[in-house]
Amino acid sequence: MATKVVIGAQWGDEGKGKIIDILAQQAEVVVRSQGGNNAGHTVEADGEQYKLHLTPSGILNPNTLCIIGNGVVIDPGVLLKELDMLNGRGISTDNLKIDARAHIIFPYHRALDEFSEKARGKGDIGTTKKGIGPAYMDKAERSGIRMCDLMNKALFIEKVKANAAFKNQIIEKIYGETGLNAEDIAEEYLAYAERLRKYVADTTILLYEAIKAGKKVLFEGAQGTLLDLDLGTYPYVTSSHPTSGGVCIGTGIGPTMIDECIGVVKAYTTRVGKGPFPTELLDAVGDQIRDKGNEYGTTTGRPRRCGWFDAVIVKYAVRTSGLTSIAVNKIDTLGDVPKLKICVGYKKDGELITEFPPSLEELAQCEPVYEEIDGWAGNIGGVRKYEDLPENAKNYIRRIEEICGVSVGMVGVGPGRDQNITKPIK
Ligand code: GDP
Ligand code: IMO
Ligand code: MG
Repeated sequence: MATKVVIGAQWGDEGKGKIIDILAQQAEVVVRSQGGNNAGHTVEADGEQYKLHLTPSGILNPNTLCIIGNGVVIDPGVLLKELDMLNGRGISTDNLKIDARAHIIFPYHRALDEFSEKARGKGDIGTTKKGIGPAYMDKAERSGIRMCDLMNKALFIEKVKANAAFKNQIIEKIYGETGLNAEDIAEEYLAYAERLRKYVADTTILLYEAIKAGKKVLFEGAQGTLLDLDLGTYPYVTSSHPTSGGVCIGTGIGPTMIDECIGVVKAYTTRVGKGPFPTELLDAVGDQIRDKGNEYGTTTGRPRRCGWFDAVIVKYAVRTSGLTSIAVNKIDTLGDVPKLKICVGYKKDGELITEFPPSLEELAQCEPVYEEIDGWAGNIGGVRKYEDLPENAKNYIRRIEEICGVSVGMVGVGPGRDQNITKPIK
């Protein structure tokens, strides 16, 4: 199959970067379609660790064309720092292309992200404060500034001045904070423009031609299903569409051009930021998983909330993204937990619910219903063949497949590129 979508099937941080890096060894193009530097994708190869926020995780493969699609919001200063980091570590970024339609994050977006979170008080979303929501707000409001605008000096200055003047009114009059200087912003960004110019293109054409030529293309999702603006745990979501449907709009392709959709999950569940989390573990087992799995945010360093594997969530992802298989990462983290639990449904008002509810109030009342499964002892980080996994680990994977109604095609036993088991899809 030539085109594969890889999305997060939980609340993000499922290990998408690792899976993309592995699959990119056989791919000609890797494309990011949504989100921005709220994403933090970790890739570990040859003993080196890379934390990528905007650059597609195929960048370590020198033969892969990496595209930042039109649906991504770009903070150019962050992107350039990331490219400098990669170049400084001997990784070429000559194969990067940025879509001319992609919207730009400005300092006033970051400021507004921070002030609006502060104003929400206890009801804050727990955003990454990278300006993502405010940038997508401008896009939807039709006042956003795009990469193609940045390439046109006079037009860019005019647009930045108009937008900054308006945002300053909000910053000063609503939030009582100090506004930002439009001229300083324009100067800073025009310097970025000169460095970014060589990367900017109409990537929808590059992508169309690559797909038509039968090239292997990977679409790298950011965030995860439950952070989707429409399908996630609204309002505790991000402002883009991390489900497979977002790929078409965010890269300019049609749904008939996608062959496979792979959902990435952890062998348990984590979430950063606020909002209901039915299987959350607030006990010693939760702490054990956080410590062993090093569950701290790649972007913000915040401790991730940890809980049991929730099959209701993954079933929802299978349904809403049309997943053809899933990759289960971090099964190694569960070693030495004597009894594991998989959430197979929720109890609410004495009734069994097996579908993820749209209402957050309803979700907050849901008590998880668990199936208990025996764990396994020892470190499985060195296992490379599915049949060599402990029987109980295979049983755990089998139950995930059965309950979620989807085949597992890959199993992660460690963060390294080589710590991955390919499993035949049933
Ligand atoms: P992403 O945002 O989905 O790309 O995921 P992150 O990079 O934010 O978080 C996943 C973390 O788990 C990273 O630190 C990875 O290096 C690590 N990781 C990925 N797969 C595995 C695995 O199978 N086992 C272990 N122990 N760590 C893994
Ligand atoms: P990757 O791609 C996990 C969460 C934030 C917050 C909510 C809204 O690494 O999986 P935002 O800054 O987007 O407005 O914050 O979304 N969030 C993520 N959580 N992984 C991510 O990305 C995330 N990107 C955003 O923590 O709850
Ligand atoms: Mg992440």
